[in-house]
Amino acid sequence: MLVAIGAVVGLLTTAVAILIDWLPEQASEQREGIDFLFWLTTAICVGIFAIVAAVILYCVFKFRAQPDDDTDGPPIHGNTTIEIAWTAVPTVLVVIIAIASGIVLARNDRTSADALDIDVTAQQFAWSFRYPNDVTSGTLRLPVNRDVVLNLRANDVLHSFWVPQFGQKQDAVPGTVTRVAVTPNKVGSYPVVCSELCGLGHSLMRTQAVVMPAAEYERWVNDQAEELEGPPGQAGAAVFRNNGCASCHTFAPAGSEAEVGPSLDRLAARARELDRELPDFVRESIVEPDEEVAEGYQPNVMPKTYAELPRDQLDALVQYLVEGQRGGGTG
Ligand code: CUA
Repeated sequence: MLVAIGAVVGLLTTAVAILIDWLPEQASEQREGIDFLFWLTTAICVGIFAIVAAVILYCVFKFRAQPDDDTDGPPIHGNTTIEIAWTAVPTVLVVIIAIASGIVLARNDRTSADALDIDVTAQQFAWSFRYPNDVTSGTLRLPVNRDVVLNLRANDVLHSFWVPQFGQKQDAVPGTVTRVAVTPNKVGSYPVVCSELCGLGHSLMRTQAVVMPAAEYERWVNDQAEELEGPPGQAGAAVFRNNGCASCHTFAPAGSEAEVGPSLDRLAARARELDRELPDFVRESIVEPDEEVAEGYQPNVMPKTYAELPRDQLDALVQYLVEGQRGGGTG
C-alpha cells in the first residue's frame, strides 16, 4: 500500500514536471549542462517528495485514532537505523549535486582562444556594452556559434547579468571585474535581465541580446566602427542610435518621438532659459543627468552610464545634439 501511494504521487509529480514546459527556449551551448543539473535536482526532489508524501498519507489513514480511543501511543526512543539513513542519504545526494554542478560550471567557463571579449557596464538601471573596436551599444549584439566572454563591471551596487535563454548568470560587483562565458547557438532576440535587487528601477533594468549570423554581426560592428570614424555628425548619430537615446527622447534629426525624457529638440531653448552655453549644457545633461532636471521630469530616471562613453564618442554625441538644434530650437 505504502509503495502504491508513493508510486502514484511520484507519477503525478513527474507528470507536472515533464508535461508543463517550464524552461525557456535553449539558445546557448551552456544551457545544456545547466538544464541537466536542473533535471537532476528535480528528479531527486520528486523522489524525496514521493517518499515523504506516501509515508504521511499512509500514516494519516492507517494510524488514525478511533472515536472512543483515549489511550497513549507506545513510548518510542529514537531509531538508530532510520537516523543513520536520513543523514547518509541526503549527504550522498547533496554530494552528487555538488560534483555535477562543479563539472558543469567548470565546463561552461571554458572558452576558446578567439573568444569575443565584450565589456559590460551595469548601473542603476541600465546595461551598456562595449565591443573590442570601441563601438558602444545599449543592446547586446552577438554572433551565433562563437564563444563570447562578457567582462562585467558595476558602477554603483550589485547587479546580476542574466539571459534566461543562455542559462549563464553572473553578478556584477563594484570594484572588481567578473566574467561569464556564453556561446549563443540560436539566432534570435532574447531579454537581458538584471537578477539582483539593485534599487527602485531593478525590474526595469532590461535590454535585448540580439544573436545574429556571424557575417551580419561583422557587418554591423564594422559599420558602426566606420560611422564612428566618420564626420562628427555621422558619428554622433551612430552613438545616439546605438545607445538607446531614441527610446526615451524625442529628437527630430533622429526621427525619434519617445516621451520618457525631455525633448532634445528643446535643448537650445533650455540652455537659453538657464543662461548656459549650449555645448556645456548638453554635455552636462548627458554625463550628469541629475544636475539640471527639466521641469515635469524626475531625477534618477536617466542612467548615468553615458559618462562611460569613450571621449570621442561623447564629443560626437554632443556635437550631433548641438547641431540638431538648428531646425527646431524654438518652443
Ligand atoms: Cu540592476 Cu537589479
